[in-house]
Amino acid sequence: MKYKIFTYGCQMNIHDSEVIAGVLEKAGYEPSETLKDTDVVVLNTCCIRENAERKVYGRIAQLKYFKQRNPNFTIAISGCMVQQPHVVEYISKKLPYVDILFSIKNVNKLPELIEECRRIDSITAALAGNSDLAENLEVKHTSSIKAWVPITYGCNNYCTYCVVPYVRGREVSRLPEDILREVKTLADEGFMEINLLGQNVNSYGKNLDKPFDFPELLRKINEIEGIERIRFITSHPKDLSDELVLAMKECEKVCEHIHLPVQSGSSRILKKMNRHYSREHYIELVNKLKDAIPNISITTDIIVGFPGETEEDFLDTLDLVKTIEFDSAFTFIYSKRIGTPAAQMEDQIDDEIKKERLKRLMELQDSITKRKNNELVGTVQEVLVEGESKNDAQKLSGRTRTNKLVNFVGPKELIGHLADVKITESHTWCLIGEAVN
Ligand code: 5AD
Ligand code: SF4
Repeated sequence: MKYKIFTYGCQMNIHDSEVIAGVLEKAGYEPSETLKDTDVVVLNTCCIRENAERKVYGRIAQLKYFKQRNPNFTIAISGCMVQQPHVVEYISKKLPYVDILFSIKNVNKLPELIEECRRIDSITAALAGNSDLAENLEVKHTSSIKAWVPITYGCNNYCTYCVVPYVRGREVSRLPEDILREVKTLADEGFMEINLLGQNVNSYGKNLDKPFDFPELLRKINEIEGIERIRFITSHPKDLSDELVLAMKECEKVCEHIHLPVQSGSSRILKKMNRHYSREHYIELVNKLKDAIPNISITTDIIVGFPGETEEDFLDTLDLVKTIEFDSAFTFIYSKRIGTPAAQMEDQIDDEIKKERLKRLMELQDSITKRKNNELVGTVQEVLVEGESKNDAQKLSGRTRTNKLVNFVGPKELIGHLADVKITESHTWCLIGEAVN
């Protein structure tokens, strides 16, 4: 039996797909090369914006063709989309050729669900989340160099535009001993980089019986031998403490990079977004980070066209982008999500205005990214070499501590090691260089 997984959305989903693959392989499944030789397809879905959902529906429509040719072809859907009742209803009514809908919390039951749906000819649903967090499940790592380790699940923040708290549930922290044991095992297996995952890693530990916070977790992971680099996503500005800045500064393995979504440069809009910080507070945080860690790279997420966003609010965002000089930014057009407060707000912005604002924002950020990358030409950067470059088989590829992608000339033996790379060229999306050791 062969399986294929399509993953949409964030790093958490990418990691969840590693768990899905691990569970299936433990049950004897093998990965397939093409859809034609696949028995089970799993779609691990995202619903953060409308276009994420659109892509999933496009893929489901394509799968109908395979189902018609092979009745044993099994289609299973998990991830954030199926945690929305209106999506479940739609799939059940309109897409009856889908076989299984399952909550990611029930991933360990997937092999049984596949068996069951072969016996019963209707959609098998395992959506009610098992409240226990899955510990000790097999993970099939997509890389042997860097690993993703969830530290919290869910989100309590209820930003008014965001569907995540409704589909991923309340925030729950994993026990520190479970996380530390996992990281130690990964270090023993030869992983060099750990990426800690959570919707808001800065609030790690808030619900634990024994107090244990995120800076403490970083310090403990920093002591684990074999691990060379520690990264984490995502940080919420409202919970970024002085202790965290200090831990980042003092832990030599914690990379000089923070992804700190600002969402808007207008304090008025930030308030409507329920973000619990102002433009000024954000600038102050960034200054603290830059003072403590002078070469830190700062990346962000920005939404344009949130309900009620005026040209003046948008200019505040452009101005903030100029002030902070982000290394890069993910920029999004506000997308109405069913069940979120912002979807009910009256002053929704015209699509044309949103597109035009996105274009202006991207142009500004691209010019800043380009300039910042250009400043690195001539410097030598430590790169963790992850493999051959995707676009140029002659080159190797990896990331700087500041999380910039570098494609460079060097011997293949460097894969899986840290290399010193001299930067010779810069582009918006990557740096070019040559190994110097
Ligand atoms: N519309 C547009 N962007 C959104 N994000 C979250 N919800 C929405 C939405 N409804 C963005 C935020 C978040 C990132 C992961 O996705 O910027 O940080
Ligand atoms: Fe969504 Fe806000 Fe939670 Fe991030 S912090 S997942 S944007 S609700």
